[in-house]
Amino acid sequence: MNQPTPTPAPVSLPFETAHVPPAERLDAAARDERMRSPGFGRVLTEHMVTIRWTEGTGWHDARVSPYRGLEIDPATVGVHYGQIVFEGLKAYSLADGEVGIFRPDAAARRLQRSAARLAMPEMPTELFTDALVELVRADRDWVPSEVGKSLYLRPVLMATEADLDLRPAREYLFLLIAFVTDNFFPGELRPRTVWICEDYVRAAPGGTGEAKTPGNYAASLLAQEQARDRGCDQVVWLDAVERRWVEEMGGMNLFFAVGPEDSPRLLTPPLGGTILPGMTRDSLITIARDLGYPTSEEPVSVAEWRGWAGDGSLREVFACGTAAVVTPVGTVRSASGDWAVNGGRPGPIATRLRTALLDIQHGLVPDRHGWVLPVG
Ligand code: COI
Repeated sequence: MNQPTPTPAPVSLPFETAHVPPAERLDAAARDERMRSPGFGRVLTEHMVTIRWTEGTGWHDARVSPYRGLEIDPATVGVHYGQIVFEGLKAYSLADGEVGIFRPDAAARRLQRSAARLAMPEMPTELFTDALVELVRADRDWVPSEVGKSLYLRPVLMATEADLDLRPAREYLFLLIAFVTDNFFPGELRPRTVWICEDYVRAAPGGTGEAKTPGNYAASLLAQEQARDRGCDQVVWLDAVERRWVEEMGGMNLFFAVGPEDSPRLLTPPLGGTILPGMTRDSLITIARDLGYPTSEEPVSVAEWRGWAGDGSLREVFACGTAAVVTPVGTVRSASGDWAVNGGRPGPIATRLRTALLDIQHGLVPDRHGWVLPVG
């Protein structure tokens, strides 16, 4: 678990490019209207990237084309057996007028690890990054200029061989689409109410929890419905073995701030095969340390969480992810009782970390860690 996979050999391909003809593109006024209140995943851009992989040939046929539906064989392996992995990252308007993609190399590495877990070919970092740059340049007009809005990039790698024998496929399609987003959670820093789920688990040791694969998300929906039925916004996942260690919240990682008000420390559950290695999680660990918060990856039990809330040492809890950025938790509900975090209010640490992250993403402060790839 968590072993680094060998980096695939560099591959660079020429992209065959067919843009939407200027006369058929949305005009600026119509585009601005669509981008005003985009929500999450609805305001798709006008182009897409496709790249194919075939056994014996490897990566080939890289294209930028107008966004369109796909025609797939009804016997496609990905559809039947779920041999699919995906990513999520964002492009932002930078203060100098350019556009930057946030941590494309980290997303490439995670896609490689997810692919390795599902016995799929690993896309080389260069090719993955080239695909992102090609799409962002083709859809440059869709990158919002306001801080807090961004262009969400959604790469997907899917087994496309039409042969239902249960074995790794010999043909794959890499797809990259993009949509404009403000935030996964409208209303941004409104603290969320969460439900501690004891009936279902998201991931078990040896399973696929650390891979970004659609089955993990499909399997989370019923618990998410259960949380909604109990008046909660999101589900909190516990470990599969003891059902006492906190793992994730919905599709996001969690942080806890504990200790004296003037010197709190930050904790986040350690990756161990069952937790998605979030890029926002990783970025916040670094930013928190830069800001002087002692920060460690340590297991947190539900009993500790409740105990800290009771004895006054719990300062804040917040979730993070590419889609959600940083989102405070205000109220916790569980089968054995409810408790509040920071009186149900957003706290200064979540607010400070969120601002520090967005400042880097939008090029408002120096990019000390080399996280932003400017693409013109
Ligand atoms: C993200 O945070 O970008 C994710 O991939 C979670 C998403 C499925 C809402």
